Amino acid sequence: MAIKREHWGSQIGFILAASGSAVGLGNIWKFPYVAGSNGGAAFVFIYIACIVLIGLPIILAEMVLGRKTQRNVVGAYRSLEKPTHSFIHYHRHFPNKEHPSQPYFPWFLAGGLGVISGFIILSFYSVVAGWTLAYIIEAASGTFTQFLDVDEAGAYFGEFVSKPVMPLLYHGLFMLASLGIVIKGIQNGIEKWNKILMPALFTILVLLLIRGLTLPGAQEGIAFFLKPDFSVVTWKTVLAALGQAFFTLSLGMGALITYGSYLSKKENIPHAAFMVVLFDTLVALVAGLAIFTAVFAMKLSPSAGPGLVFHTLPAVFNQMAGGYFFGILFFVLLFIAALTSSVSLLETIVAYFVDEKKWTRGKAVLLVGGIIFLTGIPASLSFGSLAGFKIALGKNYFDLLDHVVSNYFLPLGGLLIALFVGWSWGIKNAVAEIKNGNKNFPTANIWGFMIRYICPLAVAVILFAKFLGIDF
Ligand code: PHE
Repeated sequence: MAIKREHWGSQIGFILAASGSAVGLGNIWKFPYVAGSNGGAAFVFIYIACIVLIGLPIILAEMVLGRKTQRNVVGAYRSLEKPTHSFIHYHRHFPNKEHPSQPYFPWFLAGGLGVISGFIILSFYSVVAGWTLAYIIEAASGTFTQFLDVDEAGAYFGEFVSKPVMPLLYHGLFMLASLGIVIKGIQNGIEKWNKILMPALFTILVLLLIRGLTLPGAQEGIAFFLKPDFSVVTWKTVLAALGQAFFTLSLGMGALITYGSYLSKKENIPHAAFMVVLFDTLVALVAGLAIFTAVFAMKLSPSAGPGLVFHTLPAVFNQMAGGYFFGILFFVLLFIAALTSSVSLLETIVAYFVDEKKWTRGKAVLLVGGIIFLTGIPASLSFGSLAGFKIALGKNYFDLLDHVVSNYFLPLGGLLIALFVGWSWGIKNAVAEIKNGNKNFPTANIWGFMIRYICPLAVAVILFAKFLGIDF
């Protein structure tokens, strides 16, 4: 007997939860440093083009696939798969039918890739998220006042992450917080918390932006971020922008298929997809502006790389008026962003075990969460005792996980989703499903064209470029 599937309590609850998934470390930690080290404004423009041309169509495809099937990522593919036609199977199932001429593709494997990607992302994402928790405490206890310059702040951070015990403790605490939300289910867990945390996130972001814009010397930061110099754009810039677009929108691993599966037929999917993309882009831009105005006002370098947020900003906070207060707020912001994203990663995996393996939610949450905590341990130690231990491609465990998933698995997952919706399930069926909550979907033709041709082609290009070793 099928158990009735839980649904979101409201459209806004869904939009906030999906925005919570999209807005994460990718927006506030990764976006500013990737933009900073890829030429600033020119990168930002290309990134926005990728979001609109590729991100928006695929997000819509994921949501509609989820709502149609009311299943987790593996179940979603499986339930719409064309009948198997390895010859023997086909005739056993459909003895009186002609053998189909289309080759059979085991689409459910694309769903499996999504579950595995979620697993891997969460095990290193939670380690970085744990640092944000630690830095809330550091900020509150006045540690930043010791930092006379960026080097001192950097050395402090380096020492913290290389220790074996404390970062693991924070990684564990962060996982516990995620488990506590997901175990409560959709309405009482994920939706309820996103409705509290996302407005808090927007409020903090606005406060930080106001602080950044009112610093003396902020104009230079604004110019760096908004005045494009296309002479610095290379092929690499375009690829970096495409990769970032995928990660930041939570695309390619079925998080939005899963969230979409808790939608009822009356919800307007194009509207929701548009709002999520809008929020995600706004948060990245505002976070970038808030950070660069502060960095330029303090005459520091914008291209500090991954350490920008943890090395450069604590030193910035120490020098600005109200820095104590804004320092705490900033790391609370990062923590909230990470938490609502990690909840979506965990839910994607949990939903798989609940739907397909018939586990109870409690069992799935505890087991999956426990295993992810364990697989995160070497990720955390990659900054300390395992730093020199290169597993493959000259990378340690942490870097290898991030590299493989962000650059290969997510784009591949996105490519498969576009191909599945565009060519296997079919645009006609998808549009019919979308029209359930949105009678006239005026951009149906454009959307279909993007999903069938433009998205797969663009993503195939990223993958191919990666494969040829053109580095991001
Ligand atoms: N979108 C999240 C971020 O920007 C990361 C994420 C990726 C979350 C994939 C879920 C799925 O940080």
